[in-house]
Amino acid sequence: MSIKFNIVILAAGRGTRMYSSIPKVLHKIGNKPMLQHVIETSKSISPQQLIVVYGHGGEQVKSLIAKNMYDTELIWCLQENQLGTGHALKCANEYLKQYDATLLLYGDVPLISQNTIKQMQDKFADNIVILTADFPNPTGYGRIIRNDVGKIIKIVEEKDANQEQRAIKEVNTGIYIFPNKYLSGWLEKLTNNNSQGEYYITDLLEMAYLDGVDISSVSCADVFEVMGVNNKLQLEYLERQYQLIQTDKLLNKGVTIIDKNRIDIRGEIKNGIDCFIDINCIFEGNVTLGNNVTIGANCIIKNSVIHDGVEIKPNSIIEDSEVFNNSQVGPYARLRPGSKLLNNTHIGNFVEIKKSIVGIGSKVNHLTYIGDATIGSNVNIGAGSITCNYDGMHKFNTNIGDNAFIGSGTMMVAPVKIGNGSIIGAGSVITKDTPENELTVSRAKQVTILGWVKKFRQKK
Ligand code: UD1
Ligand code: MG
Repeated sequence: MSIKFNIVILAAGRGTRMYSSIPKVLHKIGNKPMLQHVIETSKSISPQQLIVVYGHGGEQVKSLIAKNMYDTELIWCLQENQLGTGHALKCANEYLKQYDATLLLYGDVPLISQNTIKQMQDKFADNIVILTADFPNPTGYGRIIRNDVGKIIKIVEEKDANQEQRAIKEVNTGIYIFPNKYLSGWLEKLTNNNSQGEYYITDLLEMAYLDGVDISSVSCADVFEVMGVNNKLQLEYLERQYQLIQTDKLLNKGVTIIDKNRIDIRGEIKNGIDCFIDINCIFEGNVTLGNNVTIGANCIIKNSVIHDGVEIKPNSIIEDSEVFNNSQVGPYARLRPGSKLLNNTHIGNFVEIKKSIVGIGSKVNHLTYIGDATIGSNVNIGAGSITCNYDGMHKFNTNIGDNAFIGSGTMMVAPVKIGNGSIIGAGSVITKDTPENELTVSRAKQVTILGWVKKFRQKK
């Protein structure tokens, strides 16, 4: 029988120790808010209801999550004052009477995995299932108290624990599955009679024990899955853990990564075979690499598709662009949004391309700006050439025909069309369309003034 369950994510905490105006759960791991990680993991296991208890920075949290996830299915419950974890769960009480069970997660414990949750679900049979961990240094955590036959009978918070209890290394991760047929009743009975004056969720365990409800546990092997973020040190630690998970996935899919500690993946990468990634690359959003793609050191690639056999040389930045087969980009190239490089193109150093198509076999090799342009096939753009696409108010297009040859240092003042096979003399300022297969030059005639230098030097 499959169990129908709710998930409640507590996300009301203030996060004082982050020293930030941003609500804690919106701080990012892999460029995605921590709360969004937890919501995505939650959704992957299809709960009946997904409830987020919010409080501090509530509207900001709600609007950002809604914007990122286009989500109308979340149930939001406000916890106006943070009176403890038990109080937080109680804020969602009206939703907890339905279905079999409720899984509790945290917006600041971002790396909990689907696999761990499944292990917990497998142990659920109208009992409590608690996720525990063994910490060599358990300071700060609630300790798991077991009786002499090893059954959990309660949890004691650090601040309420005696010396003997503090020596226990098995801790409460704060993640549980509760049986709904008892949960609401227990929540009604919670008190704040403890050293912190808070309503402790952990008190539910003792209630369960006294009511004769079984408490089972799952021990979490990967500690980072249950680690919470209270400060920037912990945020950085989990960021590195998350990155290692991402790179391991890529390595397992056959990508060659020179150093898995020097790559950052802030999104999803799809890859073909025989891809190679050198050090210090950052991938953002959705990036697709075809077969035999080589990415040199220090590249940033965002929301782009890099097709088979492409080589991206070091220090290149590519955003919202597509590079087709066997092309070469960089070193030091920048492809801005809307760039499309067709097969066998070469984009060289200090070249910026924006919202332009570069046709098959065309080359833009040195120090050039191409914006709002369509370049045909087998075109050569000389060093230092520029499409002057902006007059301060509007943008205009440049169209360069197949087989054109643009001499170095050419200014193409848009809107303008360079005909197929045109040759443009170096240093030209092109303001009018140029005819096909003809030489067009626009530059002052070169003159030599005989004897001028001699006279000039004699004056000194
Ligand atoms: C809690 C557990 C402790 C466990 C630890 C694991 C209790 C009483 N103790 O302690 O046994 O070892 O987690 O990390 O539950 N929150 C709210 N509203 C509140 C209070 C908290 O939303 O009123 C949220 C926080 O934002 C945070 C989470 O609940 O995400 C845990 O709260 P926190 O105060 O950090 O709990 P701990 O004292 O660490
Ligand atoms: Mg606390």
